[in-house]
Parts: sequence; structure tokens; C-alpha cells
Amino acid sequence: MDPAVLRKAMMGVEKVYHIGPTAHPKEREMGCAVIDAAREAGVKHFVFSSVLHAITTALVQHEIKRDVEEHLLSSGLEFTILQPSNFMLPIKMRPVFLEGVFRLSWSLGRRQSLVDIGDLTDVAFSVLTHSELHAGATYELVGRGRYTAYELGEIISSVMGRPIPVEEIDADKYHRALFGTAESEKSQHQLKVLRAITARYSSNDFIGNPNVLTWLLNRQPTTFKEFVQKQYDAFLAQGSILAEGCKAIA
Ligand SMILES: NC(=O)c1ccc[n+]([C@@H]2O[C@H](COP(=O)([O-])OP(=O)(O)OC[C@H]3O[C@@H](n4cnc5c(N)ncnc54)[C@H](OP(=O)(O)O)[C@@H]3O)[C@@H](O)[C@H]2O)c1
Repeated sequence: MDPAVLRKAMMGVEKVYHIGPTAHPKEREMGCAVIDAAREAGVKHFVFSSVLHAITTALVQHEIKRDVEEHLLSSGLEFTILQPSNFMLPIKMRPVFLEGVFRLSWSLGRRQSLVDIGDLTDVAFSVLTHSELHAGATYELVGRGRYTAYELGEIISSVMGRPIPVEEIDADKYHRALFGTAESEKSQHQLKVLRAITARYSSNDFIGNPNVLTWLLNRQPTTFKEFVQKQYDAFLAQGSILAEGCKAIA
């Protein structure tokens, strides 16, 4: 947010990869300030990690990213915009492995497309190292499949070898679990973002097409099952390391 800090950060920088903080009330201002600082510093290539269907006004964090995209388009900078679908998030799997329940804060029958973060970073790396091939492009980054929560639960069950029930939680409960109960401006904004997600994803599927990602990766995108298997193997390995450690201490 601080132009002086950004000016210093941009000194000698040729390429910028910008990803805004999640559900932050100043996400729009931060994005625009980073773009302005990059332009002033003569940055050669600006890569913005946006979101799939940034044009969706009903989703607060999409509307913000759409505005940042527009600011970037108008900046005169050489740019690439990445529009990833919902992330397959390692942090969201740990509670599922520990508690044996898969929770989602929207209607369980609605479909979503997902993207593996490793696939996303492979694309980001390739775009940044071959700027000349990707300048001026906007890419939708979507993995294979369109899953309901029930189908995601079945995949997790098959990997864990036991039934994993799915449960819908409301946005306010999810907000308390994620961010606590503070009454700050930041907290109010987070609640607005999460309530909008619950409303939109409960009334509309959030889906895309894997063609662009497959082409960019030059391989098939990671599936949700492959992602869960990798996370579960790491979780089990961590458990056995901890058990060994406890035995050694005992
Ligand atoms: N999650 C998804 O499914 C998804 C899908 C598409 C697009 N996106 C977008 O991708 C972005 C990241 O989402 P995420 O789910 O990966 O979020 P996340 O896990 O919460 O990560 C947010 C990152 O932002 C950093 N951050 C937070 N406040 C900051 C601040 N004031 N200044 C600088 N950095 C700050 C955090 O740093 P610390 O680790 O130091 O706190 C963290 O590294 C968001 O813009 C989100 O809308 C997310």
C-alpha cells in the first residue's frame, strides 16, 4: 500500500508476479498500487494472478480482481493475466483427515471446477520465464472435472479407505472458524466475501474448461484424486515421523 515501499521493492525488477491477499478490504488498492509502481519502475512483464470468471459482480473478491485487471489493461504494461479456478488447498485437507468430515460453505449439490496449486505454479513459472510467448494473454486455469461436494467426499473416502460424510456449514460459522470473531473493518469485509461465496455458489455452479491449462502444461492437469492421495500420503508420513519421535523420547 505504501508507494515508497513499492518504489524501493521495484528497483531493478524486470518481472512482477502479483497475487492479492485473500479477503482483504484493501485488495483492490494494493493491486492498483503495485501496478502503478511497476509502471513507474519500467517493469517489462507484469503477471497478475486473478480468478476464474472475474466478471462475476456478485462475488466480492471477483469484482475487485476485475477492477485490478482493468487497471492493468489500461497501464500500458506488458501483462499476462492468470484466472485460476478454486484451488485444491492442502490446508483444507488436514481437518478432513483429522476429523473425518468434509465441510463446505455452500450447497452440496452444486458443481465446482478445481485447480491444483502445483499446476498453477508450473504455469506461473513458465509464463515468467518465457514472457515473450505469453505477453498480452489472459488464461483460464481449470483442472479436469466438475464436482459436487458429494463426489469430492466419495473421492476422499476412496483414498482414505473409509466413508467420509459431507456437511454444509453456513458462511458465518465458516468465518468464525477461519478468522475468529473480531469486529474490525477487515473482519466485516471477510464476512461479506464469505457470505457472497455461499450465496453465489449455492445458486450457480462454478465451472470452467481444462483445455487451456492442458495446453500450457503440455500434460494432463492434476486430478482431485491425485491431489488428495498426495496430501494423505504426506499426512500419514508425518504421523509416523511423530510417532517415531515420541517413541525415541519415551
Ligand atoms: N483459494 C482459492 O480457491 C482461490 C482461487 C482463485 C483465486 N484465489 C485468490 O488467490 C489469492 C490468494 O488466495 P489464497 O486462498 O491462497 O489465500 P491465503 O492462503 O490466505 O494466502 C494469502 C496470502 O496473502 C498474504 N497476505 C495476507 N495479508 C497480506 C497483506 N496485508 N500484505 C501482504 N500479504 C498479505 C498472506 O501472507 P502470510 O502467509 O504471511 O499471512 C498469504 O501468503 C486471493 O486473492 C484469492 O482471492 C483463491
